[in-house]
Amino acid sequence: MARATFRRWSIHSKNCYGEINNTRIWFLVGLIIRQKEPSNLETPFHQVDSFLTPTELFYIRSHFPAPKLDLASYQLRIDGAVRNPFSLSYKELRDLPSERRVATLECAGNGRAFLVPQLKGAQWDLGAVGNAEWTGVPLGVLLERAGLEEDACEIVLAGADQGTPDVEPKPPGPISYARSLPRDKALQREALIAFQMNGRELPQDHGYPVRAIVPGHYGMASVKWLTGIHAVREPFPGYWQTTDYAYWDYVNGKPVRRGLGEMKLKSQIARPTVYETLKPNQVYTVCGAAWAGEAEIAEIAVSTDGGQTWAEAEFLDPVQRYAWRRWKFAWLTPKQPGKYTLLASAKDDKGGAQPDKHDQNYDPYVINYPLPIEVFVGDPYEAGVGDVAAQTGS
Ligand code: MTE
Repeated sequence: MARATFRRWSIHSKNCYGEINNTRIWFLVGLIIRQKEPSNLETPFHQVDSFLTPTELFYIRSHFPAPKLDLASYQLRIDGAVRNPFSLSYKELRDLPSERRVATLECAGNGRAFLVPQLKGAQWDLGAVGNAEWTGVPLGVLLERAGLEEDACEIVLAGADQGTPDVEPKPPGPISYARSLPRDKALQREALIAFQMNGRELPQDHGYPVRAIVPGHYGMASVKWLTGIHAVREPFPGYWQTTDYAYWDYVNGKPVRRGLGEMKLKSQIARPTVYETLKPNQVYTVCGAAWAGEAEIAEIAVSTDGGQTWAEAEFLDPVQRYAWRRWKFAWLTPKQPGKYTLLASAKDDKGGAQPDKHDQNYDPYVINYPLPIEVFVGDPYEAGVGDVAAQTGS
């Protein structure tokens, strides 16, 4: 555990969202370390109990140590293919009319620990995802003020952090973190230059003082410690666009490298957790959350028999574009002790569905097939925990 903090938390009688039994206690919550420095910390996803992920439980994904930016000298520069390049101080940015958005951020490598064989990169379990409310100025407002040129095709967002990446092939020297957005996405009202998260100043690890928030895109697009917005006339070939956070697409049968962008439809089970032991013949409320990129979550189905049969789950949150929807499903656990595999699968309002398996072209990213949660019903030894011990060599 790292960055642990005490907070007032509700304990749920049936281990699920919305079924509060009035018991309130203080207990310890915190993040799971995937890498100490730079900070890569994961949300314990089974603790997700609220629509908005509390800031102190929100995952942190940083490639380099967090830079310390001084508010007094902070400047955000908007230039490139624009008629009137300009810079804004932090105060000038704060004085502009701001807007609030709820948006789910998911790291493109979330769920990597489930891949067999194991692939390179931090072994994120289910918790490199969170849903927060962000406050800031629409990126489009700044681009309009700068007089974006007609032929600008992408907007590059540059962070102040620097270092040498660990993904091969490595660049010859230190680079800064930068990602580009297609022009249309940058001009969409949703994209924010944010200075608040869940109603308070951004914490250092989440990009203080200013970051981009790109709802509907994987988290790598939401550049933290933002200092530069550059409009470009050619697609940006930066490291984080072509080497890392990129995938193989095919044009006329030929492989081409493209930068990751829109988040793919996904649903995750928060509870029960992997290898949790449940009582037989009792109602257990399975719960989780689902999200998508540019579509709305329309349906969730849950399987408790490894995908042979599916039943519809119930939503706990209404549709709110770019925000996740939590869901629950009442499972009458079998009388028969044993090991059971739970799966959740979402459909969106455009007819999209989750794939059955991982698409190899995405390599260690976009892990959006239904992730299996194996649980024991009844005495775990009768149910096969011994087999697990034998398999894992423990
Ligand atoms: N921005 C900068 N400047 N440096 C980074 O390493 N990581 C990106 C993105 N923005 C990153 C960044 C990635 S990969 C993700 S998933 C999100 O930030 C995570 O945001 P969070 O740490 O606030 O959860």
